[in-house]
Amino acid sequence: MLFNSYTGKTKKTAKKNLAKRGIWWLVLIFWSMAIGSGISQAQGTSEAKPAEIGKEVYLEHCASCHIPIPPEVLPTQTWQELLEKPQNHYGENLKDIISITQRLIWEYLRLYSRPLNPEEKTPMYIAQSRYFKALHPRVEVPKPVNHQSCNSCHIGVQNLDYRSLTPPWENSP
Ligand code: HEC
Ligand code: HEC
Repeated sequence: MLFNSYTGKTKKTAKKNLAKRGIWWLVLIFWSMAIGSGISQAQGTSEAKPAEIGKEVYLEHCASCHIPIPPEVLPTQTWQELLEKPQNHYGENLKDIISITQRLIWEYLRLYSRPLNPEEKTPMYIAQSRYFKALHPRVEVPKPVNHQSCNSCHIGVQNLDYRSLTPPWENSP
């Protein structure tokens, strides 16, 4: 009788919430399995699984307001600072970057970025990053350099594919 008093809509929402929670449990189980098996394996393999899940979580949480920014264009310190202060994100408050999402995104960003030397200043914009410059040896990227201009040359940005380029770049030697 109790269940009959629910409207179809709330039932659906409840189902959806349950499914959502189920996914997180799966993620947790996979993650702990990856970490567990990692103890007996080489370090590289143990890092791969959480980073893989982390990439999906990154795409889900960090690509709604702007394109997914590739980890390698910014130093590890920048990503750490951004993840540690989600409530103060360039004037935005990223409320869903908590505990497990924060942790999984970190596994991904950390694995594919490099740290700076200790005396270097942490850049908070792509334009200030020497790693961004190093990744563009042939290109004088038009100013202003920021997340809004990447797709003028990179045609696969939504899937974090920064290898595919527009035809003029693709065909140049
Ligand atoms: C609610 C919207 C929103 C979400 C979600 C969001 N950002 Fe941002 N992000 C912004 C805004 C606004 C800026 C500043 C853009 C500007 O100045 O043009 C920014 C800028 C950035 C920059 C600097 C870009 C540049 O051009 O130099 C990085 C890096 C960045 N965000 C990373 C992240 C990461 C990592 C996440 C997920 C944890 C995330 N963002 C999620 C709104 C968001
Ligand atoms: C004017 C065109 C242009 C713009 C704008 C541009 N790129 Fe690139 N990017 C290239 C080219 C061309 C390469 C290949 C390296 C080279 O030839 O210098 C490249 C290489 C890369 C790579 C390495 C890809 C790989 O794995 O081989 C990354 C990552 C990247 N760009 C990210 C970005 C981001 C992020 C932005 C925006 C902030 C951006 N690029 C803006 C043209 C551009």
